[in-house]
Amino acid sequence: MNEDIKKSKANNIILNKSEENLLLEHNYDGIEEFDYPLPAWWVWTFIGGVTFGIFYIYFYNFAGAPSLKEDFKIEMAAIEKVITAQRKLTGNFDMADFKSWQGGENSMQMAAVVYEENCLSCHEEGGKGDIGPNLTDEFWLNVNKVSPDVLYGFILKGNEDNGMPAWEDMLSKEELYAAVQFVLSVQNKNLPGKEPQGKKLSE
Ligand code: HEC
Repeated sequence: MNEDIKKSKANNIILNKSEENLLLEHNYDGIEEFDYPLPAWWVWTFIGGVTFGIFYIYFYNFAGAPSLKEDFKIEMAAIEKVITAQRKLTGNFDMADFKSWQGGENSMQMAAVVYEENCLSCHEEGGKGDIGPNLTDEFWLNVNKVSPDVLYGFILKGNEDNGMPAWEDMLSKEELYAAVQFVLSVQNKNLPGKEPQGKKLSE
């Protein structure tokens, strides 16, 4: 018999020399066992997991880290802030209410009348601009989006430092809707009038 090979004590199993010292001492009814070491990656993953677990438990249970509930509250507060800022920007605009007003019979007529009585003096015929900017081109000074809610919010507060009145105390909600409707209705008309001002917004 080759000296590299040896028989296991009880079982007559032929072993390589390299396996010899892996064989454990015990023998259960003829069943013997090798003691193969676990792969290093496994051992390190295990140690890493346990270490992480200890820090995790300590951090979340004893070191005052925020609980899930607190995390939730923090995130909700941030969301609430964004919502409040957006409400401010859009003056609590109610899109459904606007749409139902817009669908009414004489909304276009009302838009023309409100514009003529309140806006024409500065924004000129058809919104081509004069004292106020051209409302029919793609360039905007005060809004980042040409949508009913943003226009409503802007018309409500105006920009009095630059000559655009705030209309919140002068027009009713429906009249404000009508003003918004007028501005929407002249989009993409690009009437020759006041030269482009501000940033180009593409739809
Ligand atoms: C007294 C003059 C005046 C009147 C009246 C007026 N505006 Fe203006 N409007 C301005 C001026 C000036 C600006 C530009 C403000 C600036 O430079 O930021 C402006 C800006 C705007 C803008 C934003 C344009 C942009 O490029 O950002 C809209 C929309 C607008 N007006 C709508 C209206 C509507 C609707 C009415 C009527 C309800 C109205 N304006 C009445 C002077 C006026």
